[in-house]
Amino acid sequence: MNSALPVLIIIMICAGITSDAEGSLMSMMDFRYWRCVMKRQWKCPDSEVNFFLFTPERPYSQWIDVRHGDLSEYGWKVTRKNVLIVHGFNGTHAKTPISFLRDAYLSRKDYNVFMVDWSMLARFPCYLSALANMRLAAQCTAQLYSFMTQSGALAKKTTCVGHSLGAHICGMMSEHLTEKQYKIIGRSRCSHFMSSCYLAASIRRRLHIIGVPCDNTCPKQGRWGIRYDRKPIVLGDEIPDSTRGMFCAKVDHDENCPFD
Ligand SMILES: *[C@@H]1O[C@H](CO)[C@@H](O)[C@H](O)[C@H]1NC(C)=O
Repeated sequence: MNSALPVLIIIMICAGITSDAEGSLMSMMDFRYWRCVMKRQWKCPDSEVNFFLFTPERPYSQWIDVRHGDLSEYGWKVTRKNVLIVHGFNGTHAKTPISFLRDAYLSRKDYNVFMVDWSMLARFPCYLSALANMRLAAQCTAQLYSFMTQSGALAKKTTCVGHSLGAHICGMMSEHLTEKQYKIIGRSRCSHFMSSCYLAASIRRRLHIIGVPCDNTCPKQGRWGIRYDRKPIVLGDEIPDSTRGMFCAKVDHDENCPFD
């Protein structure tokens, strides 16, 4: 019975110090623990969400300052298409598998390639923090997108490609945009690595993979959940803009990115 008393007192002290003013102050500070950070300030730009531009003439990482200037200073060209590539959990903008996608788009010479880096907010093993941080990553990436449109980029020439949680960031970005018709390519939960690898190959036009319309059960439990109300498509860069929904593809290789 006695041992319960100190616990009770500690709880009361904790409750006592959290007045309303202090509570709202706490919620304005980012919550940092071990290697993890959970963002609580929704203010962009943020030093932990960064953007790097790669172009065919400058195929190296250039950090973009969205606060001033113009994208042409970085060798960006309005005549090219734009792709935003967003990594997932435990990723960085420079790591596989999304570096395959970057190189594939660069090899085409008709793309400005923007890499979104939110790696400090997506660290292993902080999965729950990463989930919470997607909101800020999406908000700040929407700011990059505005910066692009100010420089003359067109929605119909812009695609967002996300890997795992990065696909959600592409989706969540549109909540911050008034003009919503840009293209989103997300990849499924199964075989993340290989899906990037195959998308990279189809961007390079070395491979034509047929996507069959399917429901969300996709390759799970050997069941494809094929849908007959939509037409199959060739996966990759030339997906018609009107295409919506989930497509499943079967590929037989399991080596490391056999096309790169
Ligand atoms: C996280 O990334 C590192 C470095 O790329 C890799 O070695 C490790 O296996 C990854 N961990 C998980 C759980 O994916």
